[in-house]
Amino acid sequence: MQLDFSYYNPTTIHFGKESLSKLDDELPNYGNTVLLVYGRNAIKSNGIYDKVMASLSTAGKKVVELSGVMPNPTYDKMMEGVELVRAHKVDLILAVGGGSVVDCAKGISMSAHCEGQDPFQKYWVDFQDLENDVVPVASILTMVGTGSEMNGGSVITHEETKYKAGRVFPPMAYPKFSILNPEYTFTVSQYQMVSGVFDTMSHLMEQYFSDQGANTTDYLIESLLKSSIDNLRVALKTPDDYEARSNIMWNATLALNTITGLSKTQDWQVHMIEHQVGAYTDCAHGMGLAAVSLPYYRLIYKFGLDKFVRFATQVWGVSTEGKTKEQIALEGIDALEAFTKESGIVTSLEELGATKEMLPKIAESTIIIGNGYKKLTNEEVLNILEECF
Ligand code: NZQ
Ligand code: ZN
Repeated sequence: MQLDFSYYNPTTIHFGKESLSKLDDELPNYGNTVLLVYGRNAIKSNGIYDKVMASLSTAGKKVVELSGVMPNPTYDKMMEGVELVRAHKVDLILAVGGGSVVDCAKGISMSAHCEGQDPFQKYWVDFQDLENDVVPVASILTMVGTGSEMNGGSVITHEETKYKAGRVFPPMAYPKFSILNPEYTFTVSQYQMVSGVFDTMSHLMEQYFSDQGANTTDYLIESLLKSSIDNLRVALKTPDDYEARSNIMWNATLALNTITGLSKTQDWQVHMIEHQVGAYTDCAHGMGLAAVSLPYYRLIYKFGLDKFVRFATQVWGVSTEGKTKEQIALEGIDALEAFTKESGIVTSLEELGATKEMLPKIAESTIIIGNGYKKLTNEEVLNILEECF
């Protein structure tokens, strides 16, 4: 291991076919009023809404609802939830949905007791420390990929300023418990499923490509990448294969519950570019990541050559015989590209809704982190965007 670390994750996970029954055990631990946060129609059409409402009713809870949380949740939607928490003195925010719903719930939780200042400006733009009380959040996950069910991330899009901002809050913001039933993901469309798996893979790669060594975390990441690849192949053929969907689900949680970032510097530049792509196009997060990843890795691999060689051989099984390091590394990125094609992952920004005119604005507004193998300039970001247009 390289960097020092302290590790703490307070989220209780209830995983499996019968995991919703744990909601009955958890609910008595919280006060009377629950804000139920969910998306547009998925949980009503697949019956999850009715099951959750039955459990809330048995527990005698007063339920306030915030519905219609959209993918890439907006500041306005979050503030609608803030108003509800303030008006009804909510004791628990229960998110039922994908990463967008869970992120919106966390955003509401962080913002509801932030007084005297706009919470978005304070926490998502100025990155000030969290100093107000938070409302406990819990989640029932129905779409897999972000890892939001076991971390402090909350990504909110400010539509007026066209800024999609990710904030990682401390453990007090993590869901108190998350219920993960892989069967709930059977109704997720193939498009969203592959987008979610690429998101998981991107989280793993952002953490992996950040130093040259191969510590325990790197070994873990390689295994999770292989599991994501193998299980997506199975789920594409048989979407209701329980084992494949449960492996995909747990991979996603492990990929961003901070375990796979321990002792690593971590890159996250691909996410920074995608967030601005998302702010302009409202594309599915995983698809935007896939588009940007390929030209980005082809630009930076030379600066992290040994790690890209390792990625090629350990994750994709690229043979080394008679090849230079450079050839091996590039074959690894080619294998990643072939996998995106095989899985139907969209890698063209134009297909994701971008126009040529948007690209300079996306490039200019992208945050440059500088933790990866090569610190980009905004001009290089523009080149990347043009390459995957
Ligand atoms: O709106 P509904 O009807 O609920 O439909 C949703 C939505 O259209 C649908 N869906 C969810 N569960 C379903 C289902 N459809 C059928 N059956 C089900 N069981 O799926 C669509 C996409 O949902 P969404 O929540 O947007 O997807 P995802 O989980 O990929 O979340 C994406 C958001 O998370 C952020 C992204 O930037 C994006 O805003 N991220 C959050 C992170 C975090 N908190 O740590 C990290 C990630 O890197 C990411 O940035
Ligand atoms: Zn992501």
